[in-house]
Amino acid sequence: MLRAITDAAALAARGIAARSADRAHLEVRLKSASDFVSDVDVEAEALIRDRLAQAFPEAHIMGEELAPGAPPARGITFVVDPLDGTTNFLHGYPEYAVSIAAAVDGVLEAGVVHNIATGEVFAARRGAGAHRDGVRIRVSAVREPARALIGTGFPFRTVDVLEQYLPQFLAVAKATSGIRRAGSAALDLADVACGRFDAFWEPLLSPWDFAAGCLLVQEAGGLATDLAGAPISLTRSSVLAGNPEIHRWLGDTVARAGIHVSSTLPRTAS
Ligand code: 2AM
Ligand code: CA
Repeated sequence: MLRAITDAAALAARGIAARSADRAHLEVRLKSASDFVSDVDVEAEALIRDRLAQAFPEAHIMGEELAPGAPPARGITFVVDPLDGTTNFLHGYPEYAVSIAAAVDGVLEAGVVHNIATGEVFAARRGAGAHRDGVRIRVSAVREPARALIGTGFPFRTVDVLEQYLPQFLAVAKATSGIRRAGSAALDLADVACGRFDAFWEPLLSPWDFAAGCLLVQEAGGLATDLAGAPISLTRSSVLAGNPEIHRWLGDTVARAGIHVSSTLPRTAS
């Protein structure tokens, strides 16, 4: 499965990279406020679906653009974001990726995050560690919040949720080395897995944004849960990931700052 998703991600990454030069001429549609999709996203998902269906005809393929509904509880499910960071791609800001995870009976078994602009490939298999371009990676050893660099994602759909998020932002910004918001949750999680970030949180994400990245973090020796510390599943959810110490500190800090945004919103995939 890891080989199949790695090949499919590389195929899609080549297709997307080839289209980046004419991104100014792409037709872009708005799915909801600030949520863009282009033909490049849809074509890349179709390529991935074809490739995975050839190798695993019995599998369910859940994908952001073509099949976003909840997957069956049993069997193989591939969780596909053909282009994570579409807004970045459309602006030529080099933080966008293909993210594919494979789950069996709802348990994540393999994941790949392929950074299209840099070519870096992050891959993990359950029980076998996480790797960047074939080299083993580990989460950071930073234990003091004051030395920690934290990734995040701002809520972008509704202003209400953003207002609930701001106290969390303030609490984390005051206590750490800094916060970064690059715009691709899959790459943020890969950055936690390889120790560039010490932790990451975001109030509400879809499973294709985080499934592969969460397995990367876990296989790199970190923790990846929702903001309440519960195991992540293949539904919309908050995400909290990090090395074990900063994961715990960030969860406590965000909880003290206020509302867990995901608990105030419907958890269905959209
Ligand atoms: P997407 O590009 O696959 O939609 C992080 O906030 C996540 O939200 C990203 O992984 C991104 O995934 C999604 N997202 C959608 N619209 C966004 C926007 N305008 N700004 C930031 N992230 C956005
Ligand atoms: Ca996407």
